[in-house]
Amino acid sequence: MIAVQKSLIIAIDGPASSGKSTTARLVAQKLGLMYLDTGAMYRAVALKIYRTGIELTEKSALMELLNNTEVEQVGRDDGVHILLDGEDVSEEIRTPDISLWVGPVSEHGLVRERLVAWQREIGKHGSIVADGRDIGTVVFPDAQVKIYLSADPHTRALRRQKELAARGIAQSVEEVESALVTRDQRDSSRAHSPLRKAEDAVEIDTTHLTVGDQVEKVLAIVKKQAAATAK
Ligand code: CDP
Repeated sequence: MIAVQKSLIIAIDGPASSGKSTTARLVAQKLGLMYLDTGAMYRAVALKIYRTGIELTEKSALMELLNNTEVEQVGRDDGVHILLDGEDVSEEIRTPDISLWVGPVSEHGLVRERLVAWQREIGKHGSIVADGRDIGTVVFPDAQVKIYLSADPHTRALRRQKELAARGIAQSVEEVESALVTRDQRDSSRAHSPLRKAEDAVEIDTTHLTVGDQVEKVLAIVKKQAAATAK
């Protein structure tokens, strides 16, 4: 049993399909903390922009849209669901189209500003496990535990292809790998909050790990941190 501090933030960053969401969700479950999927927030906003068809260059239209958008995360028996203005968009935000579109949307300064503010607000209300690209570097630079998950691109593509196939979306591994690598490059090279490992993050390469192994490794790091804080 790990004694969790009053306000504990566990930040898990890494490239696409490195195992962040699964690991973050299970770690949160084990510790009885809230899980915050920041990628799903960017995806939900990207979906809304996609549907409304506004141009990312139209600053005032974008501001207006952000001011009138509500993204919520709700836990149900079958997992975490994402609501966009009250509509359950959990499936729709994970289609290959939205995976392509979320890149340009998430590198927009206005979008990042708004989403980071929402995420920090959520972090003020209790202990959380948050996963994304900039959690340990920008959103919660003072997080007590920072993890950076990595895995080789081919392994990540195989995982994503399996996930897509389970949802009835057929794509070749090559196609999936090429889309992942392009998105990683975009995420790592953008001006605002690029994907990078925080200096004080512990890197875990998940290429040859099972989900159970990943979760155990993260829990061991949390335990070590808790023991160090108690001293
Ligand atoms: O699950 P997957 O690894 O495909 O990605 P995700 O966590 O759902 O995030 C989708 C996209 O949102 C990323 O490729 C980033 O462009 C963006 N994102 C971001 O910019 N910052 C975050 N904190 C989380 C996601």
